[in-house]
Amino acid sequence: MKAAVYLPADDKTQWWVEMLQSLLPGWEVTSMDHPGDPATVDFAVVWRPRTGDIARFENLKAIVSIGAGIDHVLADMELPAGVPIIRTVGSDLTQRMREYVALHVLRHHRDMPRQLRAQAEADWHAIVVPVAPNRTVGVMGLGNLGAASAQTLAGLGFATRGWSKSPKTLHGVTCFAGIDCLDQFLDGCEILVNLLPLTDETRGILSADLFARLPREACVINCARGPHLVDEDLLAALNDGQLKQATLDVFHQEPLPADHPFWNHPDITVTPHVASQIDAGTGGRIIAANLLEYARTGTCSDVADAARGY
Ligand SMILES: NC(=O)c1ccc[n+]([C@@H]2O[C@H](COP(=O)([O-])OP(=O)(O)OC[C@H]3O[C@@H](n4cnc5c(N)ncnc54)[C@H](OP(=O)(O)O)[C@@H]3O)[C@@H](O)[C@H]2O)c1
Repeated sequence: MKAAVYLPADDKTQWWVEMLQSLLPGWEVTSMDHPGDPATVDFAVVWRPRTGDIARFENLKAIVSIGAGIDHVLADMELPAGVPIIRTVGSDLTQRMREYVALHVLRHHRDMPRQLRAQAEADWHAIVVPVAPNRTVGVMGLGNLGAASAQTLAGLGFATRGWSKSPKTLHGVTCFAGIDCLDQFLDGCEILVNLLPLTDETRGILSADLFARLPREACVINCARGPHLVDEDLLAALNDGQLKQATLDVFHQEPLPADHPFWNHPDITVTPHVASQIDAGTGGRIIAANLLEYARTGTCSDVADAARGY
């Protein structure tokens, strides 16, 4: 079997080629830029592939996304139709996202940004906030990462809601499903966490229209994908007080350009797409296991539904 690897940085590609080669004895693992005869490539392993790269491999069995989302693969306008896409998911990724979501929900809940501003002014400013059961927190998207994050928040005592496409039952979480229930989900939701996949239905969902349906001074955490957010609408909602604070881990353009207004906004916390970065060692083992399973059985449990977009 032969796998060809591409990530946007040459040194990263080479590192992944060597690491996967060590985990797949008997296979040939190459860089996508030097694949030999393209017709001999069985699997493409990619993060943000370049348009047309994958279409060169006419006998591809599957594409592996180095990450939980497949939007970066579907963005290739020349992607060959019908080739299965395997997501990279695992307990490490879920654990990291649970930690990130708990950290930032608690930060907003306890108003840490304001507390830190008071410290900078040597101001003994005691902020009293409601206890967690009196704080309503909502998680959009109840997949691998959203469901685990919602249950973590419920475990901390928050009045936790979740929103998904199809109905769910999650212990400790009040679940809403479908666009018809979005208003009900948002009504009274003081801290909103986005963990939706990026699809045609969800692009731009974090907009002025949605912010207006949250209570005044709500907080928003986007740790899914940058294009879920309409940047100007967030700035306007923060500036007029509809939103109080935001935490953003993902952006339309990454790295976030140095002159982007998010960097210096007093009510925005920026993190550099680290909420649940794949640990290369663990990710490599998951990918190798998926490749071996797929080569043996013709499928594996992490195949995404490309038509659905996630
Ligand atoms: N920041 C980071 O470091 C990082 C790391 C990894 C992943 N991510 C991102 O995190 C997000 C979540 O990943 P995941 O693996 O948890 O996703 P997932 O397992 O594919 O789950 C997606 C969830 O969103 C729901 N959903 C999809 N479309 C919807 C719609 N139109 N309306 C309502 N609900 C909808 C799905 O509902 P059903 O269950 O009913 O289908 C499902 O519950 C993705 O955007 C991913 O790219 C970010």
